[in-house]
Amino acid sequence: MLAGKRILLIVGGGIAAFKTPELVRLFKAAGAAVTPVLTRAGAEFVTPLTLGTLAGEEAHTALFDLTKEVEIGHIQLSRSADLVVVAPATADLMSKMATGAADDLASTLLLATDKRVLIAPAMNVRMWEHPATQRNLATLQKDGVAIIGPNAGDMACGEYGPGRMSEPAEIVARAEAMLSDGPLKGKRIIVTSGPTHEPIDPVRYIANRSSGAQGTAIAKALAALGAEVVFVTGPATVPSPSGVQVVKVETAAEMLGAVQTALPADAAVMAAAVADWRVENASKAKMKKDGGTLPTLSFTENPDILATVSQLAQGRPKLVVGFAAETNDVVAYATAKRGRKGCDWIVANDVRPETGIMGGSENAVTLITEAGAEDWPRMGKDAVAERLAARIAAAL
Ligand code: CTP
Repeated sequence: MLAGKRILLIVGGGIAAFKTPELVRLFKAAGAAVTPVLTRAGAEFVTPLTLGTLAGEEAHTALFDLTKEVEIGHIQLSRSADLVVVAPATADLMSKMATGAADDLASTLLLATDKRVLIAPAMNVRMWEHPATQRNLATLQKDGVAIIGPNAGDMACGEYGPGRMSEPAEIVARAEAMLSDGPLKGKRIIVTSGPTHEPIDPVRYIANRSSGAQGTAIAKALAALGAEVVFVTGPATVPSPSGVQVVKVETAAEMLGAVQTALPADAAVMAAAVADWRVENASKAKMKKDGGTLPTLSFTENPDILATVSQLAQGRPKLVVGFAAETNDVVAYATAKRGRKGCDWIVANDVRPETGIMGGSENAVTLITEAGAEDWPRMGKDAVAERLAARIAAAL
């Protein structure tokens, strides 16, 4: 819930602005007060009257309205909020934020604020993928700006891909997580989850049976305790949780890159089932049967994300938690793995097919810490996640 919280909502000039009346309505329904601010272009897509009426207070548009500057200055406007939400965050607004431009009310507020900022990017897929936008995104991430979306899908411009603004309900869930007063408030935690897909050729890949259920439950439990969660997920079968920053990847190399971009963090929980190997020379074209010889795949080892993060000389998260999926000698192998990789804790589980754990809804884990091995009874993956999140909160 957002009772007693004030959201400063900055609406950029994109077609996704049509979702902002619903966003204001949902923020109000969750108990928040909303101050709408529209850029000049934003006001072309949705009227200040609509947003002002739904918010129950005036929507602001221009910078140099002197009467209002006396009544409520832009500095005060930017400081009186608990959270600044930019939706839609256009490529232009992101660029202004990344460079510190302040040539209208919206960009001035963003430069003047001392509050956390959540942006919901929305733009054409090519604009999103352009190196300039990706550079700006990386800068904003490093500046501590929280990002939600964009989602992939059909776009108003007729193209398909990432670029759609997150749904209003997703944005509200994320704002609630960011403003929650739980024991992990102010802590940034990276969670990896799901399998990775390692390409053989453009249509074939090597994968594993991980559903992403345990990592998803952990991300959800950490967010519920108030953590800012960056959820780096391979192609999982369960949907990503709400209230977290979702970064979708396919390969182990991409997962490592996404984790490195998400650092620094207070903790990292590596629940992904990362492929140990990838095909050395994945074919650029589809491999064809030639009626005789069988293809030979040669493999090379993938980077070990858990070991890389655990052994960082600088900027290592205070707590690094790994998983160990084993089919025999679980505690012995997991204890050795903890030492070899250099992580603080290992959550070990027995993934023999007869346990039904991999891809199932329950888990039976042993938590291995410096103090030794601790068996947890078999329970739902959500319950394992909540217990682990509580332990993480106590340790940070
Ligand atoms: N892991 C990782 N990067 C890899 C491989 C594994 O980050 N390239 C992480 C997993 O997310 C997990 C832990 O390391 O937290 C252990 O994964 P697991 O597959 O059990 O171990 P392996 O490193 O593959 O070791 P082994 O093959 O000896 O079981």
